[in-house]
Amino acid sequence: MIVLGIESSCDETGVALFDTQHGELAHRVYSQIDLHRQYGGVVPELASRDHINRAIPLIDGVLADADCDKSAVDAIAYTAGPGLLGALLCGASVAQSLAFSLGIPSIRIHHMEGHLLAALLDEDNPPPAFPFVALLVSGGHTMLVLVKAIGDYEVLGSTLDDAVGEAFDKTAKLMGLPYPGGPELAKLADVGDAEAFTLPRPMTNRPGLDFSFSGLKTQVRLLIEAEPDSRHADIAASFQKAVIDTLLIKCRRALKATDAKHLVISGGVSANRYLRQQFDSATRKYGFKLHLPPMSLCTDNGLMIAHAGALRIAQGKRDYTIDCTSRWVLDELETV
Ligand code: KG4
Ligand code: ZN
Repeated sequence: MIVLGIESSCDETGVALFDTQHGELAHRVYSQIDLHRQYGGVVPELASRDHINRAIPLIDGVLADADCDKSAVDAIAYTAGPGLLGALLCGASVAQSLAFSLGIPSIRIHHMEGHLLAALLDEDNPPPAFPFVALLVSGGHTMLVLVKAIGDYEVLGSTLDDAVGEAFDKTAKLMGLPYPGGPELAKLADVGDAEAFTLPRPMTNRPGLDFSFSGLKTQVRLLIEAEPDSRHADIAASFQKAVIDTLLIKCRRALKATDAKHLVISGGVSANRYLRQQFDSATRKYGFKLHLPPMSLCTDNGLMIAHAGALRIAQGKRDYTIDCTSRWVLDELETV
C-alpha cells in the first residue's frame, strides 16, 4: 500500500510517499524560514498562504521523484492537529480534495503521533518493544508518553508552561540569535562551557513527570542581562545542559515507574546533538535502549505523517470529512 502524507501544521510544508513494503519512496520538505525570519517568529496568516502555494507542486514533485502515478496512491494521510488552524486546513483541504477525486480513503493524523512513530523509521535499529516510553520534544509540545500499542497512548507528564523547543527558541531570541533559534542556540552551545553557570534542573526535586521551563528561561534572561555578550556561548551551553539533564532525570523516572526498557525520543529537539550524545551515554550507564528518528525526520516532515497513516490504516482507521483541531490531546485520539 502506498500512502501520501501531507504535513502543514506550522512553518514547513512536508509531503512524502511511504510504501508499506519498501518504506520511503520520496520525501520533500519546504521550509518557510526565510518567509518568517524578518518577523522573528511564525506569522500564521503568511504560513497558511504559503502552504496552499507549495502543497500541489510538492505532491507533483514527490510523485515524480518516486516515478509513481497518482493512481498508484492507495490513501492520503494529513496532519489534522495540533497546530495553527489555518495552516492545518490548507493541508487538510488539499488532502481531502485529492482523496475524493481519486476515490481513496484519507486519514487524520495527530502531529505528535507522527513524530512519535518516526522513531520506528530508523532502519539501522530494531524497533522498540511495547510498552515503551516516548519523550516528545517539539516547538509546541513536551510530553512523556507510555506507548502501549500503536494508537494507545497514556500521557504520563507534560510541560506546565514552555515546551523545550519553545524555551530554546525564546532563549535564543533573548541572545539576539536569528529565527529559528533552537538550532542556532545549540550551535553556540557547542563552543561554550556547560559548567560556566549553575542553573536549576526544574521540577526534578519533587515527584512527578511534568516539566516546567519558564523559570529556567527567566534565570537565563537575568544572566544574559548581567553578563557581556562574550559569555553568550557559556550561557547557551549551561542552559542546554540544564534542559537535557532535566529531560534525562524525568525519562529515567518514567522508565522506572512503568518498568519499560525502551525509550523513544522524537520531535524537533531530538535533532539536538548534545541531547543525542547524553542519552546515548546514559543507555550504557542505566541499561535502557534508545530509539531516535533519523536526523532528517526529527523536525516536521510529511514522511512521518504518511508512515503514521499507513500504520493507522492497517488498523482499519479511515475518515472522509475535513476536520482539523488546533488543540488535540494525544491520549484522546479517538474522541475528537
Ligand atoms: O517538531 P518541530 O519541527 O516542530 C514542532 O512540532 O514544533 O520542532 C521544532 C522545534 C523548534 O523549537 C526548534 O527550535 C527545535 O525544535 N529544534 C532544536 C534543534 N533543532 C530543532 N532545538 C534544539 N536543538 C536543535 N538542534
Ligand atoms: Zn513537529
